Amino acid sequence: MHSVLSWDWYTDPRVLEVEERRLFRPSWQYVGPLECVRRAGDQMVGRLVRVPVVVVRDGDGELRGFLNVCRHRGSVVVAADGNAPRLRCPYHAWTYDLDGTLRSAPQCGPEVSAELADLGLLPVRVATFGPFVFASAAADGPPPPGGRTCPSGRSIRTAPAGRRGSSTTTSARTPARRGSRR
Ligand code: FES
Repeated sequence: MHSVLSWDWYTDPRVLEVEERRLFRPSWQYVGPLECVRRAGDQMVGRLVRVPVVVVRDGDGELRGFLNVCRHRGSVVVAADGNAPRLRCPYHAWTYDLDGTLRSAPQCGPEVSAELADLGLLPVRVATFGPFVFASAAADGPPPPGGRTCPSGRSIRTAPAGRRGSSTTTSARTPARRGSRR
């Protein structure tokens, strides 16, 4: 009988895959301090395992969470914490309201304009617990432990393995860079 875990458990990507699927994806993950999303327009970025998310405070004071991936070509929409009245993708300037609705899609044809309502950012569940903000990508996952659930979202699909980043952390906070981006 082993008294310690095999070193492979820390280095084998197959173990990580199992941990992601069975432990981290269905559960709530820490995104950052509530203090970072106090004001309307505040935006705080984080990761649920390898999935980029952004938590925002909308104009009605509601806390919302989204998959931080543009519905156009998949660019990360919000690069760092900040405050802005909208979320604008740096790639082709698709712009989303703070409730995730796609507001404008510059340089796209009328067929995209007709579908704006269906191309909003994909929501994730957000909850607060004391001074902390948590998010969950599993719409049918467990409720937050003692926290208040904000508008719930749908389950999200993770990127194919070949397109994923290399992070192995469960929730990586980007160093806060406060202030207005635009
Ligand atoms: S990838 Fe975001 S606007 Fe094109």
